[in-house]
Amino acid sequence: MIHFQTYTSIEAEKIVNLWNRCFDGDFPLDVRLWHQNVDNCKRTFADASILAVLDGHIIGALIGKNPNRISTVFVAPEHRRRGIATELLERAEVAFTGELETTLLVGQDDRHFFPGVPEKAAAADAFFTKHGFMRREAFAADMIRTLDDWSRPDSPLQVARTMKQLNIELRACTQQLIPSLLEHVEANFSDRWLRDTRDRLVLEPDPSEVIVAVQDDSNVVGFCHTYSNRSVVLGPSIAWRSLIGRKYGGLGPIGVAKDFRKIGLGLELLNYSITKVAETGAERMVIDWTELVSFYAKAGFSIWKKYYAYSKSY
Ligand SMILES: CC(C)(COP(=O)(O)OP(=O)(O)OC[C@H]1O[C@@H](n2cnc3c(N)ncnc32)[C@H](O)[C@@H]1OP(=O)(O)O)[C@@H](O)C(=O)NCCC(=O)NCCS
Repeated sequence: MIHFQTYTSIEAEKIVNLWNRCFDGDFPLDVRLWHQNVDNCKRTFADASILAVLDGHIIGALIGKNPNRISTVFVAPEHRRRGIATELLERAEVAFTGELETTLLVGQDDRHFFPGVPEKAAAADAFFTKHGFMRREAFAADMIRTLDDWSRPDSPLQVARTMKQLNIELRACTQQLIPSLLEHVEANFSDRWLRDTRDRLVLEPDPSEVIVAVQDDSNVVGFCHTYSNRSVVLGPSIAWRSLIGRKYGGLGPIGVAKDFRKIGLGLELLNYSITKVAETGAERMVIDWTELVSFYAKAGFSIWKKYYAYSKSY
């Protein structure tokens, strides 16, 4: 008989094997990524993280995270269409909703695997729709580019002139710039980006893979996370690194302070950051979770994976 139990981290290896059978090579998982995104993520919600077990074998799993996120759900191919994911979801819903009105989202959790439901997951679309989730029309994409033909484009004259007038330079972040970097992210962007940046700086004491635009040598006005095969943190851009290639790179998030937009700084920061990734020896790189397809296309990126946001209000 199938029974359902709360997820415990000792199951990681078995879960990873099941995941890789479920996702058919589209999202190749390893234990390092699972530990980072689930076991070591402060927002993993134990009561809403549930395993389906048959004769001692895990045949399905759902991971819930606070606040109100279904990080992922998957069921062994040979046990599908028997209501297992439905049971996992119903148990998670009870844990999430309690007495409160709430909205559940699929993906977009801290240390996420997916920024929504992957387009290729046709069964997941049918599953979430059947359970009353609404799909947002716009998609988010991971975008990819090879780097063998990359060379940093010359800055347009006007942009270079403006940056000079404003005394803005691009460089790798240093210890001294960390307080200004964090202030910049807090003032201009989401709490999620702030948490991700803070967490990364704890795990990677050398901040040089964060690229910054600095005014007057001290004031951060733009930032960009880059990743390579020396990164300690597996940022979402390099989560599926075995598909990118042995010499992989990644980028994102990237952002410019509100008062410094529309002067060409974003594209300059992007081009500089790509160059820094290329200098690590990366041969292909990914920019994750973006809706700005045409912006990144300017730097030669094309769509790699698509995701749709699904939500349900209770
Ligand atoms: C999505 C998934 C978890 C569903 O698991 P499952 O245990 O087969 O789902 P259930 O049996 O509870 O399905 C409930 C309902 O969802 C719908 N559904 C599920 N899979 C479907 C499919 N392949 N085609 C059409 N409808 C489907 C049906 O309405 C089904 O009810 P029915 O069987 O009475 O018609 C499973 O297909 C899976 O693991 N896919 C790969 C991993 C994945 O893409 N996960 C989502 C990423 S977040």
